[in-house]
Amino acid sequence: MRQLPANTLLRKPLVIGHRGMPQGTGDENTLASAQAAVDAGADVVENDIYLTSDKHLVIMHDDTVDRTTNGTGRIESMTLAQVKQLRTKVGNREVPTLQEYFSAFKGRPVTHFIELKSSNAGLVAQLKNELDAAGTRDQAVAISFLGDQLKRAGQTLPELSTGLLNSNADASDPQVAVRDILAAVQPYSSTDNPAYGGLSQGAMEAGKHRGITFWPWTVNDQAAFHRLYSWGTHGITTDYAFWARDFPVEI
Ligand code: G3P
Ligand code: CA
Repeated sequence: MRQLPANTLLRKPLVIGHRGMPQGTGDENTLASAQAAVDAGADVVENDIYLTSDKHLVIMHDDTVDRTTNGTGRIESMTLAQVKQLRTKVGNREVPTLQEYFSAFKGRPVTHFIELKSSNAGLVAQLKNELDAAGTRDQAVAISFLGDQLKRAGQTLPELSTGLLNSNADASDPQVAVRDILAAVQPYSSTDNPAYGGLSQGAMEAGKHRGITFWPWTVNDQAAFHRLYSWGTHGITTDYAFWARDFPVEI
């Protein structure tokens, strides 16, 4: 178990498996990767989504299939049947649909972070259809760097939690930092999802008192994971979900 300073008050953050847990499988954004994250203790699985040309949601990080699969081309120009012909380079696995992912985790206590990767206007409408078909609205959070897409998600699915991904760095004065965070985030989102390097403990403490929740990403440095955990951040997105096993879980 990690040693933390005496009297450190700890609340376990939600551990968010980034693209599942590529460290467990080599493959990102596959059902196997999602399962590896859950097996490692992740509370949340993060998946990136795109809309195929025939309006199915599929899980992939890049806007082309070139890096991760044996195919080439833009994923939003492909039909679902074409996507299903592909195999991942690392594990020879299928590219999953969002529906397949929901089915695999149906009835299990996993929160679904769904990153809206494209500004395609049909993407949010189809997300609503698929959440309803799976009966899993209450387990889903929409996150995105695309503020307008997040706004659309908030209008279409008003009860959904949302998170604005950003790379903003905190001002040195925590109160100024919090003012900046609220101004940047509130038009789009209910949480702040900063790149972890720009997040200071002072801003996070001050922000908590203004009702902000913090979900920094992507924490693949173990010392930073330790630091954020001990600061009491609300959630930590990581490729190494199993690191949380090294830390105390009770306050
Ligand atoms: O959770 C945030 C993180 O997923 C954003 O980065 O590029 O891995 O989608 P990226
Ligand atoms: Ca992502």
